Amino acid sequence: MIDPKTVKNKALVAWVDKISALTTPDKVQWCDGSKEEADALFKMMMDKGMCIKLNEQKRPGSYYFRSDPRDVARVESRTFICSRTKADAGPTNNWMDPVEMKEKLNGLFKGCMKGRTMYVIPFSMGPIGGPISQIGVEITDSPYVVVNMRIMARVSAKVLDELGEHGRFVPCLHSVGKPINSPEDDVAWPCDPDNTYIVHFPEERLIMSIGSGYGGNALLGKKCLSLRIASAMGKDEGWMAEHMLILGVKDPSGKKTYVTGAFPSACGKTNFAMLIAPKALQEKGWHISCVGDDIAWIKPAADGRLYAINPENGFFGVAPGTSMKTNPNAMLSCGKDTIFTNVALTDDGDVWWEGMTDEPPAHLKDWHGNDWTPASGTPAAHPNSRFTAPIVNCPCLDENFEALGGVPISAIVVGGRRPKGIPLVYEAFNWTHGVYLGAMMGSERTAAAEGKAGELRSDPMAMLPFCGYNMADYLGHLVKMGKNLSQTPRFYHVNWFRRDADNSFMWPGYGDNARVLAWIVRRQNGEAKARETAIGFMPNYEDLDFDGMEYAKEKFEELMTFDPQTVAAQPLSEDLYEQLPHSLKVEREALLERLS
Ligand code: OXD
Ligand code: MN
Repeated sequence: MIDPKTVKNKALVAWVDKISALTTPDKVQWCDGSKEEADALFKMMMDKGMCIKLNEQKRPGSYYFRSDPRDVARVESRTFICSRTKADAGPTNNWMDPVEMKEKLNGLFKGCMKGRTMYVIPFSMGPIGGPISQIGVEITDSPYVVVNMRIMARVSAKVLDELGEHGRFVPCLHSVGKPINSPEDDVAWPCDPDNTYIVHFPEERLIMSIGSGYGGNALLGKKCLSLRIASAMGKDEGWMAEHMLILGVKDPSGKKTYVTGAFPSACGKTNFAMLIAPKALQEKGWHISCVGDDIAWIKPAADGRLYAINPENGFFGVAPGTSMKTNPNAMLSCGKDTIFTNVALTDDGDVWWEGMTDEPPAHLKDWHGNDWTPASGTPAAHPNSRFTAPIVNCPCLDENFEALGGVPISAIVVGGRRPKGIPLVYEAFNWTHGVYLGAMMGSERTAAAEGKAGELRSDPMAMLPFCGYNMADYLGHLVKMGKNLSQTPRFYHVNWFRRDADNSFMWPGYGDNARVLAWIVRRQNGEAKARETAIGFMPNYEDLDFDGMEYAKEKFEELMTFDPQTVAAQPLSEDLYEQLPHSLKVEREALLERLS
C-alpha cells in the first residue's frame, strides 16, 4: 500500500480527491503492486466468494474467476471516441459530443462506488522511465481489476517517483457501476450491462469506463490507453501505437531480426508471437523469441530506424484452443501465478477449456458454475475465456523485452483470416504499398467481434476497434511515418487460413509459420529470392525451407495463387475510402492497373 501523504504529484492528488468526492467510496486505497497487496486482495475476494484458489500443486499462485454471463467480452457498441468534433473520431468510431458525454458519465459515476473501496493504481506501460513508456493511473472499484493490472502493467510506487511533482499521466477512471445500496448488491461479479460505457477523450488523454469488469473494458492500460489514447498521442508526437505482436528471429548466423505483426482479434496472434520453429529449422540455428503478443509502441530513434516496445507486462490470452500442441509457450506461461476467467474448473482444482486436451475430463464445473460432462453439449469454457499471465513466465521471452529503447524493427507482417483467394505470403513493393495492404485488411468474423460469424469484416491494420481518432488520418499518419527513415521496415501480407475446395486448411500454420518468417528474414538479409507479381514479391517453392515437412510443389503453387477480384476488393466503407490519403488511393489505382 502507498501512503497517499507521500504522493507529490499535485494533479494526481487533486484528481483522486475529485473522483472520490464524485463516486463516494467507503475508502480509498493506493496500490503498490506488491505480492503482499495482491495476496490480501485475493484472500478478501475468496472470503467473499468472488474467486477460488486453484490447486497449489498443479497451478501454483493461481486463481479462478467466473464473470456475470452478461459481461464476457469487449463491448464495441458501447465504446466511444469523444473527440471535440465527430469528424476527428472519423467514420469508424462511435462518437458523442464530449460535453454531453461527460454530463452523462458524471451522472452515472455519481455515488457509484458507495459501499466499495476505491483503488488507485499507478502504472507504467513499458519499462518504468523508458523513452517510449507512458504512465497511467487507474482508479477502479474492482479488486479483480487491481490483481489483473498488477500482471498486465508495471504497477509500483516507483511509477510515482518517475512521475515526480509535475509529470504527465493518463487518468483512467473505471467503475463496475454497481454501488452497494443493500447487501444483495454485493455480488461476486458486479456489473451494469445496461449502462456500460467505455469512453475516450483523446484530446484530454482521459479514459472513463463504467458498467463492465471484463478485460479491455476494465483493464484500462490495455486497449484504452495503449491503443486508443496512445494512437492519438502517437499522431501528435510522431510515433505509432499499433495492435501488433513483436517477435525476434535468430537466424543461423546468430543475427537477430525483429518483426511486428498486425492481425485482427482471434487470428492466433498469441500463437504466432510464441511459435516454436520446426525441428529441422531449429537444427539449422533458427530460433523465435517473443517480445509481445498484442500491442507495439513504435518510435523512430536517432539512427533513423523504428524501435518498438511491448508496453504490456503480461498476456491476456484467449484460453480455448490453447494446448501443449498448439502453443506450449502459452501453456507454460499460464502454469503459475495466473488468473483464469470463465474457463472450466476440474474436480482437482485445476482449469480446463475446449482444445486443451484431446479428451475432455469426465466431469467439470463449467464457466457458469454448473456441473458439466462431455454429454452436456454446451461449452465448458466461454469462447472468450482468458488467462492473465505474467510475461516473465514465458519460456521464449526475448532477451531484450525490457530494453528501455525497444528493439529495432525490420519487417511488419499483416493479415487476417482469408479462406479464399489470398496467398500464403507476399511482400509489398514499398512502405506506402504496405500501408495500403494494411488498410485493406479484413478477416472472417469470430466470437470476440460482434456480428455474424463467418462474415468478412474490414479491419484496417487490425485497428478498427482500437483507433483513437479518424481512421483515415491514422492511415495517413502511417504513410508519413515511413518517410525519412534510414531503414524502412518491409511489409508482408500473410494468410494462414486459406481453405481448399473441401474447406480444409491448406497450410498447417503454427510452428510451420516459421518457414515464412525465415523467408522474410532471409529477404531482409538479401539471401532469399522472390518473383515479382502484380500484387507484390512472392517466394517460389525453392525459396521456402520445407526441410522436415512434406508439402507438394503443386499444392504450394495452389496456395500461392491469388484471385484478382478478391485482391482488388475494397472493403472499406465509401465514407472512409473517400477520406483516405491521396497516396493510398494512388496505390489502389496502381494495383488495379497491374491486375488488368
Ligand atoms: C484482444 C483483442 O483481446 O484484440 O487482444 O480483442
Ligand atoms: Mn488484441
